[in-house]
Amino acid sequence: MITSFTSSQATFISGVVASLLLLVAHAGNFNQDIDVYFGGPRAKFLQGGQLLTLSLDKSSGSGFVTKNEYLFGRFDTQLKLIPGNSAGTVATFYLSSQGNAHDEIDFEFLGNSSGQPYTVHTNVYAQGKGGKEQQFRLWFDPTAAFHTYSIVWNSQRIMFLVDNNPIRVFNNDESIGVLFPKNQPMKVYCSLWNADDWATQGGRVKTDWANAPFSVSYRDFNANGCVRAPGSSTCGKTNSGNNDQSWQTKGLDAKARSRMKWLRDSFMIYNYCADRSRSPQGIPPECKQQ
Ligand SMILES: *[C@@H]1O[C@H](CO)[C@@H](O)[C@H](O)[C@H]1NC(C)=O
Repeated sequence: MITSFTSSQATFISGVVASLLLLVAHAGNFNQDIDVYFGGPRAKFLQGGQLLTLSLDKSSGSGFVTKNEYLFGRFDTQLKLIPGNSAGTVATFYLSSQGNAHDEIDFEFLGNSSGQPYTVHTNVYAQGKGGKEQQFRLWFDPTAAFHTYSIVWNSQRIMFLVDNNPIRVFNNDESIGVLFPKNQPMKVYCSLWNADDWATQGGRVKTDWANAPFSVSYRDFNANGCVRAPGSSTCGKTNSGNNDQSWQTKGLDAKARSRMKWLRDSFMIYNYCADRSRSPQGIPPECKQQ
């Protein structure tokens, strides 16, 4: 019977344990990391948990949510949207806290009729207040292949990226009185649902149920953030998804800033900052900073 390890055995064993932990953290496995919170069997785990499809039919959509709550982090998913007539449908990838006065960071993909472009909708809520919408077209067909959508959230800013290209930065402008989500931990949600009362061309184009069930695919899901233990008020341990902590300070260098400016000039189709009908008392203070 072994009563004590030699130091080389101990090193070997801790090496094995460490690489197992790394493997688990790397896999981004849907089976382990998320729960299906609505739609039941309409969420399908494929390829051993590496791929997840959500579907929508006339009676329900479907969605999943991470088991963990995060206070800051970097969140990525690859996503392939509904080809053909996706009018009336909305696919989402967002962060949200629970309860009243919630915080939320949204990526939403509004479907369209065949041959018409998807709209990428982004928004930020802090303490229950949203109204910070910006919308974009994509420079590729999001239904033909997987593309990567990312949210980087740290104490200074929120960044929205598409295939690693920044399309939007929402800065922490608390110093000029703008609310910023930074105290409430959030879970990551992905869902597919029917929103034909508003989603497509302002609700004029309805979901065509003859095309149902609709289906979107998610893969390479990665939540690399600060995991808050249930009941704890501080962010304790860091979940080292891929040990890359650069999200904590991530901002834009000059090259990324000019790339973002070009993308916004070319592909932004709605900006709350420029919508006078929404802010009769003048443009919101954070808009003047840009
Ligand atoms: C759908 O296509 C129309 C026509 O090109 C466009 O005006 C609209 O913004 C597109 N997206 C949505 C979600 O309606």
